[in-house]
Amino acid sequence: MIRKLVLSAVSGIVLIGVVAADVTAPGDVKVENLGISAPLTAQAGDPAEGRKVFANRKQGNCLACHANSDLKDQLFHGEVGPGLDGAGSRWSEAQLRTIVVNAKAVFSDATVMPGFYSLEVGENVRKDLVGKTILTAQQVEDIVAYLTTLK
Ligand code: HEC
Repeated sequence: MIRKLVLSAVSGIVLIGVVAADVTAPGDVKVENLGISAPLTAQAGDPAEGRKVFANRKQGNCLACHANSDLKDQLFHGEVGPGLDGAGSRWSEAQLRTIVVNAKAVFSDATVMPGFYSLEVGENVRKDLVGKTILTAQQVEDIVAYLTTLK
């Protein structure tokens, strides 16, 4: 009985810790049926910000591999991945979140699409990048919000 009480007290503390941080750590992200249904942050994604991160060559750099008519003012759309017109109709929000967080979880280990919020980034990772993700949780939410507008 005492043990149970201690356990519930401890889990209560952990829960408060998670809520206070307002951000899901990369290792705590849960994928179910290819989807991540819970947003990674308490602050809702902003599609206008997501559009910027998508096009930014130093952040998402999504255009390196994906064409996107909504960004036709930008030069050099890559063709390694499928064009993203209509991606918001093909995939649910939860699935789009998984694709951006860790594309391997939706496609296969062989995909060349990077996991933007995953610590499984392969071997021989530069020392200063160990434990870091390419995008922040908020940037992922902003990109997901943007992708859902691509109907
Ligand atoms: C190095 C290339 C590369 C980069 C960079 C990349 N992707 Fe991809 N992406 C792919 C490939 C390839 C696929 C197709 C899945 C496969 O076969 O591996 C894909 C698939 C997708 C899909 C599903 C496509 C569909 O319509 O069915 C979405 C959505 C997507 N990527 C979004 C993004 C976003 C958003 C970014 C930037 C944050 C990004 N990708 C960056 C290569 C890339």
